[in-house]
Amino acid sequence: MCGNNMSAPLSASIVPAARKATAAVIFLHGLGDSGHGWAESFEGLRIQHVKYICPHAPAMPVTLNMRMVMPSWFDIYGLDFSSSEDEAGIKRASETIKALIEQEVKNGIPSHRILLGGFSQGGALSLYTALTTQQKLAGVVALSCWLPLHNTFPQASANSANKDMPVLQCHGNADPIVNYSFGKMTEGRMKTLVNPDNYTFNTYQGLAHSSSPKEMDDIKHFILKTLPPDGNE
Ligand SMILES: *[C@@H]1O[C@H](CO)[C@@H](O)[C@H](O)[C@H]1NC(C)=O
Ligand SMILES: *[C@@H]1O[C@H](CO)[C@@H](O)[C@H](O)[C@H]1NC(C)=O
Repeated sequence: MCGNNMSAPLSASIVPAARKATAAVIFLHGLGDSGHGWAESFEGLRIQHVKYICPHAPAMPVTLNMRMVMPSWFDIYGLDFSSSEDEAGIKRASETIKALIEQEVKNGIPSHRILLGGFSQGGALSLYTALTTQQKLAGVVALSCWLPLHNTFPQASANSANKDMPVLQCHGNADPIVNYSFGKMTEGRMKTLVNPDNYTFNTYQGLAHSSSPKEMDDIKHFILKTLPPDGNE
């Protein structure tokens, strides 16, 4: 193993629950970003029993960006369906996220009360992790993203605990970075891997590679549906 040490604990921007936390959202930012902006967005949703954990990716050279060093969950070579992928890096990053989930379980939040999510590269990692973990999750919210290592499925998800999980996938149809058609192909593939009855794909007209207030509102409703108060607050 070389490169950055993904087994080191991740630092994170955390929004504690206003009351006792009985559920958590772990949300992974996109390439070159940090967890701070997303933590602020989630704080604005004001759901009192949910804790938000927005970890910061470690810095590494990114091939797509001329090997510039920036926060990144794994290396990226290209952004279309046929690009080759950093298989070892994706698997290593997903192990790190599984360890982060395990840490929350030790802190007292069962994994089925943890919603995993992310934007762009972070959304891709959230889909890959949810499909390959044996930790039963509350669901996934995947924004402006794709399914990494799609050729390794369905074998890679053979032991997944999350074949019935609710998924909310969102994508702007004016996305110039991760093409909308890539998001739609991901939806098609995902629906063969998890129960399509629990799958929602939302299209945002005119939205580029970013989020919007309408999308955040849809995410709020998805969080309330998948992580309702459980009476222990
Ligand atoms: C990575 O970091 C962890 C925690 O700091 C340490 O225990 C481990 O030995 C490191 N692994 C490698 C391969 O450097
Ligand atoms: C997405 O890709 C299609 C072709 O597959 C292209 O026609 C379209 O312009 C692209 N959209 C954006 C926003 O780049």
